[in-house]
Amino acid sequence: MHLVGTSHQGGYSHEAVVYALQKCGIRHIDTAKRYGCESHLKEAIRESGVPRQDLWITTKLWPSDYGYEKALQACRESCERLGVDYIDLYLMHWPDAQIPGKSSREARAETWRALEELYDNGICRAIGVSNFQIPHLEQLKEDCDIIPHVNQAEYHPFQRPQELLDYCRKNNIVFEGYCPLAKGEALTHPVLIQLAKKYNKTPAQICIRWSIQNGVVTIPKSTKPKRIEQNCEVFSFTLTEEDVAMINGMHDGRHVSWDPTNIL
Ligand SMILES: NC(=O)c1ccc[n+]([C@@H]2O[C@H](COP(=O)([O-])OP(=O)(O)OC[C@H]3O[C@@H](n4cnc5c(N)ncnc54)[C@H](OP(=O)(O)O)[C@@H]3O)[C@@H](O)[C@H]2O)c1
Repeated sequence: MHLVGTSHQGGYSHEAVVYALQKCGIRHIDTAKRYGCESHLKEAIRESGVPRQDLWITTKLWPSDYGYEKALQACRESCERLGVDYIDLYLMHWPDAQIPGKSSREARAETWRALEELYDNGICRAIGVSNFQIPHLEQLKEDCDIIPHVNQAEYHPFQRPQELLDYCRKNNIVFEGYCPLAKGEALTHPVLIQLAKKYNKTPAQICIRWSIQNGVVTIPKSTKPKRIEQNCEVFSFTLTEEDVAMINGMHDGRHVSWDPTNIL
């Protein structure tokens, strides 16, 4: 399955989402309350004519809605804006949690218990977290019953958090990588340009293919229909092990989104 991101950065394009659903066979939509486009997606989904049951809709809980009751309410509101009665994957967007009188760890656990209830009630088919580091995941494992089904984290040639990826694999947490093109920064790197020439593909396709070959679920975003189409054409070629290793070697630890390393 191929996926499309819908973040607020770089803008939302109704035309691109409808095109992705109608013409590219994309069925996984990654959004968030924070992106401010859930209600626009409701329209795009309706216009596309794709039945709800064929879609995988991920949305995210923003930290200002952390806490048991607030999380339940926020999920109901996301469902309303999206025009759905269940969410396929609901993620806690960020590990920092501020609830007066509670530690961040206690606040995360309280919020997670709301997600567990949403999962038990079938309102969320899967529940997970985003930007969580190993200590956050370890604490959640001690404090709660359900281990997150997914951890969505930054993943591209400059940011390859292998230890986190290994931890997720060991604990049966699907690792979903965001910003697979490093927000476009990777596309002008000489190594990726050279590989693009070698495979007769674009640097964007090389990045997406590399994520897939490393076993990472990936959610490239574009507001341009032709680029969405291009980003889907990544299943007709295979990078050699040496070329995957060469891209693996580009990791320099830089974040192009936010950096959760120091969140307690
Ligand atoms: N959980 C989190 O905290 C978090 C954080 C960040 C992002 N995300 C998710 O990850 C998704 C993707 O991240 P992102 O949009 O920040 O970064 P990205 O997918 O790495 O890069 C998007 C940028 O690349 C350009 N682009 C896309 N396809 C291209 C192509 N084939 N050729 C040339 N340029 C291309 C886009 O421009 P055009 O639109 O002009 O094509 C845009 O500027 C988001 O939509 C969101 O769903 C999650």
